[in-house]
Amino acid sequence: MSLLQMEKISKTFGGVKALSEVHFSVNEGEIHALLGENGAGKSTLMNILTGVVQMDTGQIEFSGSHYPHPTIVQMEEAGIAIVHQELNVINDLTAFENIFLNKEIVGKFGLLNNKKMIQETKDLFLSLGVDINPMVMVEELKTSEKQLLEISRALYADAKLFILDEPTTALSGDEVEHLFGILRRLREKGKSFIFISHKMPEIFEIADRYTVLRNGEFISSGLIVDTTPQGIASDMVGKQYVDKNMYLQRKLGDDVIVMRNFCGHGFKDINLTVRKGEILAFTGLAGSGASELMQTMFGALPATAGHIAVHGQKIHGGITSFMSHGVAMLPSNRKENSVLPDLDILENLYIAEHTLSYKAQIIHKKAELERYDRLKYMLNIKAQDYTDSINSLSGGNQQKIFFGRWLNTEADVLLLDNPTQGVDVGAKIEIYRLILELATEGKTIIINTLEIPEIVKVSDRCVVFFEGKIQTILEHEDINEHDVMLHSTNAVILRGRIHDKYKDEQTN
Ligand SMILES: Nc1ncnc2c1ncn2[C@@H]1O[C@H](COP(=O)(O)OP(=O)(O)OP(=O)(O)O)[C@@H](O)[C@H]1O
Ligand SMILES: [Mg+2]
Repeated sequence: MSLLQMEKISKTFGGVKALSEVHFSVNEGEIHALLGENGAGKSTLMNILTGVVQMDTGQIEFSGSHYPHPTIVQMEEAGIAIVHQELNVINDLTAFENIFLNKEIVGKFGLLNNKKMIQETKDLFLSLGVDINPMVMVEELKTSEKQLLEISRALYADAKLFILDEPTTALSGDEVEHLFGILRRLREKGKSFIFISHKMPEIFEIADRYTVLRNGEFISSGLIVDTTPQGIASDMVGKQYVDKNMYLQRKLGDDVIVMRNFCGHGFKDINLTVRKGEILAFTGLAGSGASELMQTMFGALPATAGHIAVHGQKIHGGITSFMSHGVAMLPSNRKENSVLPDLDILENLYIAEHTLSYKAQIIHKKAELERYDRLKYMLNIKAQDYTDSINSLSGGNQQKIFFGRWLNTEADVLLLDNPTQGVDVGAKIEIYRLILELATEGKTIIINTLEIPEIVKVSDRCVVFFEGKIQTILEHEDINEHDVMLHSTNAVILRGRIHDKYKDEQTN
């Protein structure tokens, strides 16, 4: 039965047509994937549905009622809960205060009933299998925990329809699996979900139906079982989509990064050598330590033992020492670590270069604009004017700018933490091409990612982490989904043990 009907929805932002006459519908008890390239209009459509943005024209019918001018309060009361694309938790409040923000439980005499709210939060986390202390200050949580907190807050609402706008960007593979378990349970109870993601395998795992938007227009809709990833990608980009194998073997140079018994928070005893022009992938499940290691390799987290040398020189100290040795890093989680909201698009693009190229005295505006135009064309960045605020860009288009931020720096070691987070299928391919190009020019690149297809496309070697240690290092020809998962979950050893036990039983 139909739960939501949106008809002929149109929206223009200052001259830009974000949506034109889009229709979209969701049934009861289904998980509906809303798909499209960066800037296609997905978040805008959801913001209209939840009353955050007003539509210019269109009709919305939800659960039997019409909403000509939906407001946030009205839609919440109607039974719609949303997890926005960008993190929306408040760092200087505790976890339980975030859950109960604007719906605090008040006792006699108008006092806050903290005890009850803490207990309810505990129960909620327990039922969802989320391991967070209700009393912890949110600033102390890891980004993945913040994302889980936000999802929990939405699920706490007794809604009929939950909107998840890229909910898994900070989650590791096992956390995603866990979340999907919760979604399936709620679906069985008749709840509906709108699921937005740029990760094709996730969509095919969890969604029942899909709708594709392109350039603010409705393109297609149907059952997931009736389509293929290639079919959806073609609808998204508007032409035949080719998923090329683009990896190219290159000659590697001298050792650039050497780590010996390197230890830090979340990882230990790392011994690893990376060569000039090499592309190395880090991967692993939650708690694998890969992201912490990368942050420590940039001085953003302190090392506790062992050492790291870049170009033969041991580096101690923080970010500035690493930067002065030619190391640059694109951090994960764009809103927390990359967005400079008060600066415009161009300033956001060139900030790293201006900081790093301290030798250059003058900024060549004309050259910068030419390079901006080239990047815009290459990565298909949907932006109006370069003087617009970075916040006027869709999530994925912002990420493309932040990737570009590190391309032209003089740094010769690039650490990229989850670089294609929220980036659409076409631009991902262009980013892989750029990474391979940079490596061919002699840059040493490490990417930390959970997307195995990404690892296969670019990396010479893949380091799989498990519980803070290197579990294995796979050479390019040995990298495949099955083996990476096996090593990430330590199933290899487990299987070995079972095998040994079996042998013991045989001999006894
Ligand atoms: N507040 C705003 N001001 C100006 N333009 C906006 C605003 N919000 C969205 N837009 C524009 O509307 C278009 C659609 O953006 P939207 O955020 O809906 O895309 P999206 O499909 O969610 O993309 P992504 O996958 O990158 O998140 C984009 O061109 C974007 O720049
Ligand atoms: Mg969006």
